[in-house]
Amino acid sequence: MTVRVGVLGCGVVGTEVIRLLTTQAADLEARAGARLELVGVAVRSLETPRDPVVDRALLTTDAEALVDRADVVVELMGGLEPARSLLLRAIERGAAVVTANKALLGADGPTLYAAADAAGVDLYFEAAVAGAIPLVRPVRESLAGDAVTRVLGIVNGTTNYVLDQMATTGADLDVAVKQAQELGYAEADPTADVAGFDAAAKAAILASLAFHTRVSVDQVHREGIGAVTAEDVAWAAETGYVIKLLAVAERVAATADHPQGVVVRVHPALVPSGHPLAGVRQAFNAVFVEADAAGELMFYGRGAGGRPTASAVLGDVVTVARHRVRGGRGPIESRYADLPVLDVGAA
Ligand code: HSE
Repeated sequence: MTVRVGVLGCGVVGTEVIRLLTTQAADLEARAGARLELVGVAVRSLETPRDPVVDRALLTTDAEALVDRADVVVELMGGLEPARSLLLRAIERGAAVVTANKALLGADGPTLYAAADAAGVDLYFEAAVAGAIPLVRPVRESLAGDAVTRVLGIVNGTTNYVLDQMATTGADLDVAVKQAQELGYAEADPTADVAGFDAAAKAAILASLAFHTRVSVDQVHREGIGAVTAEDVAWAAETGYVIKLLAVAERVAATADHPQGVVVRVHPALVPSGHPLAGVRQAFNAVFVEADAAGELMFYGRGAGGRPTASAVLGDVVTVARHRVRGGRGPIESRYADLPVLDVGAA
């Protein structure tokens, strides 16, 4: 059996996904139970120089036509449009969808979840939060029988790299951001990282999954690291702290401000230097999940960069391909369709 894979976007992550699909083809076929045939790669320009691993004959600027001939659509273009329309098109025609698009899921995830439910197709997005770290599926599936009380951690690699560089080399924020861009950690517009939009989108996704509800990015209180200076970082170190950009989603007592008892926020925080989060260096991510029965769980690993993120994407591709081989979708999508929209109140 052959599963036709269409990739939308050929940036840092797209290129690494194509590399893994190409170089690991035999292993992936054995694991998926089907040959994963890359049938096209949608790009904005055919003229842009590409890594040699990308077969130029597969490039197309007609993303819609590619969506229409793929069994699995892998969306790595980022941004809201045309990604949202292309994914909805893929879902409507019964393709399985894998996406790393945290901005889209953070802004409008419920629309996509509901569409996938209605069409009975897979929608997987492990790479959208915390790069290579298996986090989405543990929160979505493994903890589905427990009651999560808090999710807390570092979910943006760029800002963690920047704060770490500022702490270890005394670099200014702008210099460290440039380095993060060169290393392929930052978003196309690094403001998304620095101002906390990327972390807020991830926090919204995690909160939606952890609390079985719908939280969108505009319900997340957001403060980035743009105002953090080299002096602040040095002062924190002298007083026994490390500055980290934290994402926090928690159940709280219901109040007038938070009538549903959920608060989601992203902001810089002073973390005591002995705390495990203080030791999270470079572009690594770390997330604590606290649940009634499970207690405290910690997830740690590479949260940004082409290869780590591609690892999570390929894991999803193999999973949805397996489901197609079995003639059905995965067991996990059905609970989203009828969920109420939770008003989390003013953050
Ligand atoms: N720009 C993101 C980060 C990439 O730095 O974490 C991974 O989502």
